Amino acid sequence: MNKYKDFDNYLKEFPSEDGYFGEYGGAYLTPELVPAFEEADNAYEAICHSAQFINELRRIRKEFQGRPTPVYHCERLSKLFGNCQIYLKREDLNHTGAHKLNHCMGEGLLAKFMGKKKVIAETGAGQHGVALATAAAYFGLECDIYMGEVDIAKQHPNVIRMKMLGANVIPVTHGLKTLKEAVDAAFEAYTKEYHDAIYCIGSCLGPHPFPKMVRDFQSVIGIEAREQFFDMTGIMPDAVCACVGGGSNSLGMFTPFLADPVEIYGVEPLGRGSNVGDHAATMKFGTKGRLHGFDSYVLQDENGEPLPVYSIASGLDYPGVGPEHAYLRDQGRIHYEAVTDEEAMEAFFLLSRFEGIIPAIESSHAVAYAIKYAKEHKSGSILVCLSGRGDKDIDYVYENYGCGEQFNLDKYIK
Ligand SMILES: Cc1ncc(COP(=O)(O)O)c(C=O)c1O
Repeated sequence: MNKYKDFDNYLKEFPSEDGYFGEYGGAYLTPELVPAFEEADNAYEAICHSAQFINELRRIRKEFQGRPTPVYHCERLSKLFGNCQIYLKREDLNHTGAHKLNHCMGEGLLAKFMGKKKVIAETGAGQHGVALATAAAYFGLECDIYMGEVDIAKQHPNVIRMKMLGANVIPVTHGLKTLKEAVDAAFEAYTKEYHDAIYCIGSCLGPHPFPKMVRDFQSVIGIEAREQFFDMTGIMPDAVCACVGGGSNSLGMFTPFLADPVEIYGVEPLGRGSNVGDHAATMKFGTKGRLHGFDSYVLQDENGEPLPVYSIASGLDYPGVGPEHAYLRDQGRIHYEAVTDEEAMEAFFLLSRFEGIIPAIESSHAVAYAIKYAKEHKSGSILVCLSGRGDKDIDYVYENYGCGEQFNLDKYIK
């Protein structure tokens, strides 16, 4: 198989009509939710090719979100590690501070088209919650956001933002009180409310059609970045990378590059290390399984129960991964790497200090991998999806890492 050329028609072929990427994906639902997901699928198929929908989304992206976001060359950061050039696709400059608004505005438009009154979702880092609350305010919809108590404490600024935007933030108090439990709670609510509401899943996850729909909405990242990078340099990057939680910023960045001779790296959280409960590196340690209504790789025990997961980045703290990632991993098209909390935090402070950009902790994982790549390759280029900005994280970071003194960044100043 030609590693790149076989992907020429990929977006037309995947997923299949019933939502499969090879053996992954699908829609495994309780009987009462089957009509709700079918309704969303039919509505999305009806509008996604309509000129009116596409034009309206384009207008929103330009006038409300501030797209296109720029590609930026990190000259100072690159110089620290040799001659490999690091570039960023600045999704941190998208309105609300992360890529999540790309799919939330699309999902909001869909909710309006379907005549729904309310949007429901889970959130980990709070970025999807803020983005959906923003879309709800824009479209005049009610908004319920389910969030684990642990994440509520960690991502306090985003909780306040959601409330100011008019959303109800509903604390989830069972289990580990993080993202997986928030997804469970949002599903449960949707089961009762699907007549009036639509569940706007926060990543390329969940039952069909959400992995496809979210990927399609997010692919604006890679479409823009590919053209911008070429305009800047006259060539393609040697590599692109992005952090992988459920997989939305990464698939948005990666899918437009699949047929190009570009190496692609998804970066997962290795947290405190490789013991169970210390990481959320699904591709490194997971096995094939089913979670939240779809088949993919899952961190699970021998009975198929999800294992406890951990990451310093609330948005990466999930025991599964989107089904499209599982397929592209098996095809050998995407490589998966994992970086620890400490590596991500050093990258957080390096990007802040040497480029004047404070990244989200999630995105810092991708920056950390780009730094490793630059150190190893010494030449060429890597384009990083900087999925979000770090405003939401600064209280937590300051409390736990001060201003980065432990990383002794002065050592980089030659
Ligand atoms: C800034 C940021 N980046 C990345 C992620 C991970 O999500 P995904 O893998 O869907 O892009 C999150 C999730 O909350 C986030 O807030």
